[in-house]
Amino acid sequence: MNELILRQPDDWHLHLRDGAMLATVLPHTARQCARAIVMPNLSPPVTTVAQARAYRERILAALPEGMAFEPLMTLYLTEQTTVAELAAAAADPHIHAVKLYPAGATTNSDRGVRDPLAIDPLLAELERFGLPLLVHGEVVDPAVDIFDREARFIERVLTPILTRFPALRLVMEHITTAEAVAFVQAQSARVAATITAHHLLFNRNAMLVGGIRPHYYCLPVLKREHHRQALLASATSGAGRFFMGTDSAPHSQAAKESACGCAGAFTAYAALELYAEAFDTVGRLDQLEAFTSLNGPAFYGLPVNARRVRLQRAPQPVPAAYAVADGSTLVPLRAGETLPWQFAGFV
Ligand code: DOR
Ligand code: ZN
Repeated sequence: MNELILRQPDDWHLHLRDGAMLATVLPHTARQCARAIVMPNLSPPVTTVAQARAYRERILAALPEGMAFEPLMTLYLTEQTTVAELAAAAADPHIHAVKLYPAGATTNSDRGVRDPLAIDPLLAELERFGLPLLVHGEVVDPAVDIFDREARFIERVLTPILTRFPALRLVMEHITTAEAVAFVQAQSARVAATITAHHLLFNRNAMLVGGIRPHYYCLPVLKREHHRQALLASATSGAGRFFMGTDSAPHSQAAKESACGCAGAFTAYAALELYAEAFDTVGRLDQLEAFTSLNGPAFYGLPVNARRVRLQRAPQPVPAAYAVADGSTLVPLRAGETLPWQFAGFV
């Protein structure tokens, strides 16, 4: 297969940031995706409906002329979030989910929840309204090895929450382990998972062999090869509960290439191409459209996109960096390499 025609995809987990970085990264996503679930971990975080609406307006204002894109907004859950705020979020047509960050788990998560098992009134409200809870699934217990934090989160946090709230709709975001795949498969259709392209393509060797490669550092961190294999098998299996969420998470080159580099990989410049490359490695391009364009809308109760896009098997050189209007630079994942697929616009 040298050409693929797919329904236009959506990105069900995306960091757009704000200001100059927003202006730089937004056109990359809007070029390929009709919609994206926009993460709320700005500084300060998007914790209220009013802030989500204002952020949505800033995103739309940053969209270049002639581009269509619908930001699907999320609220950042804190221990101060009120039931009334969640009711307002559920009633807002532009808010589609609420994000749970365990405090300290990742970028701008310090205002997150210290004890996810102590927010039952909020979870009860989400369950009642059918508003999905999006979860960064890692424990922050310093005694737990960073490579085990997702598996421990499933046992200590997710399983009790799903038992206590049997109708809560939940997305385990950017899953990285065989344990997460097995967990999601064992649930009913109210539980789904996003998978990034970089976790489908790379194991932890990409980050650590031959030198520390900070652009491969993300959270949850890349894992062993057998976990990557499990992710790839689930993404390409045709099971409806796994779908595309790039977790494209831009940081400036200076913030990445540092003695204490930030977590996050910028992949939105070639989101579809990277997923196509991963699916192609196991001969499952026939399953790509379900993963990128059908399963996500079905979970979120939204229509599939009307337009179709074309992908071609053609070498795509990746730039060394993109300029950002504030004078910084943004290094894409796989800078300087050549990707085997190329996005070729709308059909
Ligand atoms: O690698 C990551 N980057 N993981 C996250 O959970 C957050 C994200 C970011 O916002 O930079
Ligand atoms: Zn993320």
